Amino acid sequence: MSELEIRKAVKERYARMATTSDSSSCGGEEDCCSTDLISIGEPVPVEASSVNAGCGSPLLLISPKEGDVVLDLGSGGGIDIFRASQLVGGTGRAIGVDATPEMIWRARETKSKYGDKYTNTEFRLGEIEHLPIESKSVDYVISNCVINLSPDKPAVLEESFRVLKEGGVFAVADITLQNEIPEASRKDLDSWSACLAGALTDSEYRSLLGRTGFQGVEIEHVSDSNIGKYPFKYFSSHITAKKPTVG
Ligand SMILES: C[S@@+](CC[C@H](N)C(=O)[O-])C[C@H]1O[C@@H](n2cnc3c(N)ncnc32)[C@H](O)[C@@H]1O
Repeated sequence: MSELEIRKAVKERYARMATTSDSSSCGGEEDCCSTDLISIGEPVPVEASSVNAGCGSPLLLISPKEGDVVLDLGSGGGIDIFRASQLVGGTGRAIGVDATPEMIWRARETKSKYGDKYTNTEFRLGEIEHLPIESKSVDYVISNCVINLSPDKPAVLEESFRVLKEGGVFAVADITLQNEIPEASRKDLDSWSACLAGALTDSEYRSLLGRTGFQGVEIEHVSDSNIGKYPFKYFSSHITAKKPTVG
């Protein structure tokens, strides 16, 4: 299974979701993980919540303040960006990056529908392995059920590290596996795009973050599942780490 095949399958699945409003957790009709949705501040636009495909609540892990910059990897319909927008206020920024044009178009359309309510948000088309973001410009990198979809996870973490300011926080919800999964399951494109086959174990996540330079890695299992079709156990996890300050 090539990187190209994975990217194509992922893009097709989420383009379909963006244009049909088919909301299902992590995109899988099997509901791969229970979402722990939160309401922070005012309700988010229904146009964003109707395509929610997260597996946790990264915004519960951070405490952004007025003026901060929050970057969301794989922002989808924008649900966490519209929430973050309320937290960082008029002088802050909430930036979403997504590789599926249909998701970006949908999120931008939602933003424009609400006039001047979300002017501190921005949706950029791009890959999380090649972030269209300036180095050391972001206070928080968040993400909700996306990194497991990447065929190049070291690049995602290196890019997250690059764009974070010193002392910045990486706080994501993602699927993690109890054990490495069988090769046959790993090669199932459908279960890859449903957020399962590409997932890392906790210890793989931990060591990859450490090798990238992050410190203070913490992984908490929010819920666990073992769905019939997939012969392995996985967790909806909250993962946090910090970019150290130098000197
Ligand atoms: C499971 S959905 C989650 C969307 C959103 N975070 C949420 O909570 O609703 C995954 C999203 O990540 C995007 N995505 C997947 N792989 C990506 C990559 N390599 N670079 C950028 N975006 C990616 C998809 O287009 C899709 O919008």
